[in-house]
Amino acid sequence: MPVSFVRRSRRLSDGQQRLWDEQRRRYLVDVPRAAASTSVDPAYRLDLGAVPPGQGPVVVEIGSGQGDAVVAAAGARPGTRFVAVEVYEPGLAHTARQAAEAGVENLRLVQANAPEVLASALPEASVDELWVFFPDPWRKARHTKRRLVDQAFLPLAERVLVDGGVLRFASDWEPYAEQVRELLEAASGFVRDGATTEDGWAPRFEGRVLTGFERKGTAAGRVVHDLAYARAPRG
Ligand SMILES: C[S@@+](CC[C@H](N)C(=O)[O-])C[C@H]1O[C@@H](n2cnc3c(N)ncnc32)[C@H](O)[C@@H]1O
Repeated sequence: MPVSFVRRSRRLSDGQQRLWDEQRRRYLVDVPRAAASTSVDPAYRLDLGAVPPGQGPVVVEIGSGQGDAVVAAAGARPGTRFVAVEVYEPGLAHTARQAAEAGVENLRLVQANAPEVLASALPEASVDELWVFFPDPWRKARHTKRRLVDQAFLPLAERVLVDGGVLRFASDWEPYAEQVRELLEAASGFVRDGATTEDGWAPRFEGRVLTGFERKGTAAGRVVHDLAYARAPRG
């Protein structure tokens, strides 16, 4: 199976590594692996009760990058539990640093391949919002099968979302946004979220801060599309 990320080998500087070694104890969840370093042992279950403050809504961001969106949101919503899933260690280290600087407690980081986290690590019907913002677009036709959100992703999202829980997606790569919109329109497990307009696009999610990826896309003249679909009630 192709994965949606490139294994990058950028190392942390000694200073960054020291800080990350300290902060990972505070924020990083210890995930037992199956085979690869970003895999997840299918028997492992993430304890959401251990994410401060221990109860309240759960928001999971997939591919959190440098952590700008999730750290800002966690700071603004201290009663909500946030989980950021990312494979790229320097991004996680940066996220932890930002979280520590902002005094954010209600955030845990998971270094793992997101579909595996959705398939087994997160309990069924445990997530109130699932965020995927600016996933790698995989623009070339021969690479589109590497896109994170595809037909196989939807049952995984359906599994973890509570009834009425919302999948939020944003992309500045129109063909990808259109592909995801079509998948969600056709999926029996999802219905348009209230604010979605006639054509299927949602208004810009106000809980999403402007990240470098969005800024770059807009500067290059690309239009950002948001999608918001709610998980249909289980039968
Ligand atoms: C283009 S960046 C966007 C980052 C961030 N969401 C933002 O808007 O700034 C996509 C991120 O998704 C991560 N990613 C890609 N596939 C992933 C996967 N299968 N599991 C976890 N993270 C993944 C990449 O490492 C990268 O940091």
